[in-house]
Amino acid sequence: MEKHSNDRALRFYQEVLGLERLHYGLWRPEDELSLANLKAAQKRYEDLIVENLPDRIRSIIDVGCGTGVLLSRLKRMGFQAEGLTPDRNQQQLMQAQGLAPIHHCRFEEFQPQSGYDCVVMSESAQYIPLAGFFGGVRTTLNPGGHLLVCDYFVLDGARGILAKSGHNYECFLKAAQREGFRLAKSRDLTGEVLKTLELAKVTAEKIRLALEIGTEKFRDRHPFWTRLIKLFCRKKYLRLQEEMVLIDAQEFAKNKTYQFLLFECREVAQEAS
Ligand SMILES: C[S@@+](CC[C@H](N)C(=O)[O-])C[C@H]1O[C@@H](n2cnc3c(N)ncnc32)[C@H](O)[C@@H]1O
Repeated sequence: MEKHSNDRALRFYQEVLGLERLHYGLWRPEDELSLANLKAAQKRYEDLIVENLPDRIRSIIDVGCGTGVLLSRLKRMGFQAEGLTPDRNQQQLMQAQGLAPIHHCRFEEFQPQSGYDCVVMSESAQYIPLAGFFGGVRTTLNPGGHLLVCDYFVLDGARGILAKSGHNYECFLKAAQREGFRLAKSRDLTGEVLKTLELAKVTAEKIRLALEIGTEKFRDRHPFWTRLIKLFCRKKYLRLQEEMVLIDAQEFAKNKTYQFLLFECREVAQEAS
């Protein structure tokens, strides 16, 4: 299986920052920007998902299950819970924790052997192409099953690099409606997730400063090589500068929306009548 392009970012959160969960968090207004508060915010986000699972469900598939923290919790709660991830590292990590079954594929390639009462997508819907998205979910669900999505979406009018990741929110809702998915619950989480980005920006700034301090001696002693390296890395540097907007909380709030969405999958015959 080919590696997902986002693997490096996910490994950075996990292996460098020591995060167990790979999603944004729900911050309280009084929270200061710290790694400990991010971890607490991520746990709060997970609680929101768990507390809003539909009643009377038994089987759940966590699509894009990351490090398996939610999956493990769902199993402990007594659900028949399975995971799916296209990422080989994540799959191996979860198997080592005894979290089978983990389906190792992209959701768009998944061929379910049996139906599930609920499909959970915590920050993974954005990676799955919209064409075929709801059809794939319908095939994965038992009749009357639910889809729980927690993710960010692009707003109409968004521009530049920020418009590139995530589904367009209006298109996503329209596609859901067209495909017979009724929105049963929703909550706008945008304001509550922004501090995750503020913390990312502060951390990126610290890393930049550390690099500047760490290379100071070399730059002083070798101006020629410094100029050459700068020239060589110019394109990468400019791209990095451009990408910094991705962790700008204000730009995020202008161009994106972070939503909790719970859909009920209606039966096709019921829709037609
Ligand atoms: C941002 S992480 C979120 C992980 C986890 N759900 C969480 O909330 O911590 C995105 C997850 O989606 C997975 N993913 C990426 N593309 C996918 C696809 N096409 N189908 C299913 N999962 C995908 C990644 O491997 C990763 O596990």
